[in-house]
Amino acid sequence: MFKITVANQKGGVGKTTSTINLAAAFAQIGKKVLVIDTDPQGSIATLLNIKPKDTLYNFLIEGVKFDTCKVQIRENIDAVLSDKKTEIAEMALVTQPMGRELALANRMEGIDNYDICLVDCPPSLSLLQTNAVIYTRYIVLPISMDSLAIAGASHVQDTFKLLKKYFRVVPSILGVLPTFVDARLIITEQVLSTINEIWGDSTTLILPGIRIDTNLQKANRYHKTIFEYEPKSRAAADYKKAAQALLDFISAKGKDEFLSQTN
Ligand SMILES: Nc1ncnc2c1ncn2[C@@H]1O[C@H](COP(=O)(O)OP(=O)(O)O)[C@@H](O)[C@H]1O
Ligand SMILES: [Mg+2]
Repeated sequence: MFKITVANQKGGVGKTTSTINLAAAFAQIGKKVLVIDTDPQGSIATLLNIKPKDTLYNFLIEGVKFDTCKVQIRENIDAVLSDKKTEIAEMALVTQPMGRELALANRMEGIDNYDICLVDCPPSLSLLQTNAVIYTRYIVLPISMDSLAIAGASHVQDTFKLLKKYFRVVPSILGVLPTFVDARLIITEQVLSTINEIWGDSTTLILPGIRIDTNLQKANRYHKTIFEYEPKSRAAADYKKAAQALLDFISAKGKDEFLSQTN
């Protein structure tokens, strides 16, 4: 199972949209996908209009079994969802004397019957985000075409230094996903070139970007993925392309790297 946290400290950059639509794109090509939502706003549940009985809170804090907490949200996609109680989970973890950063990794031990796991994060540096990064080790950073989104991405990177120091976990930015791309705008050109300056020479994959497409907002409103709402849209084509690029990159990284993550 290849695990990826979708993170950026800035809100509104397309984390949740990318999580659900990358998951849908992976599922379409036959991958078994698990989505975990660590955002107390419960964005994925709201987006899909699902009210789960057991959520991440029950899974992490009350020790309710994974199979009870997971919900099948689409064909080939299961999810452990969040609601307001996730905030209480965050607080409960904070007061734990030991192992609070490892709670998700510990609870997920032995669960590997998915090809890919995507973890959506809140736009803040939370303990749950740290849990997500320690669990997945790999991160995809959606970056919208404004400079604050680059700053938000850098903040995520800063926290990695601490994880390395205290937990000997070396998180890795697997990919950067440009979002809200509009080739006609100078700001798009500027942000894309900054992305290239920062990550161009690294082992990070700069993914093909997601263009601005209001179909994504409409899909949200109708509680659908972009592939259900408008499969012929720009956004559907872009998410399909980005998902394939990610898969190609993961398989090119080789089996050793892949296996080292399944611990
Ligand atoms: N490429 C895009 N084009 C147009 N709107 C988008 C795009 N990506 C996301 N959105 C919209 O922007 C809003 C914020 O996206 P969201 O995924 O919730 O961000 P985050 O999870 O980072 O806070 C949503 O209304 C979503 O539909
Ligand atoms: Mg979100």
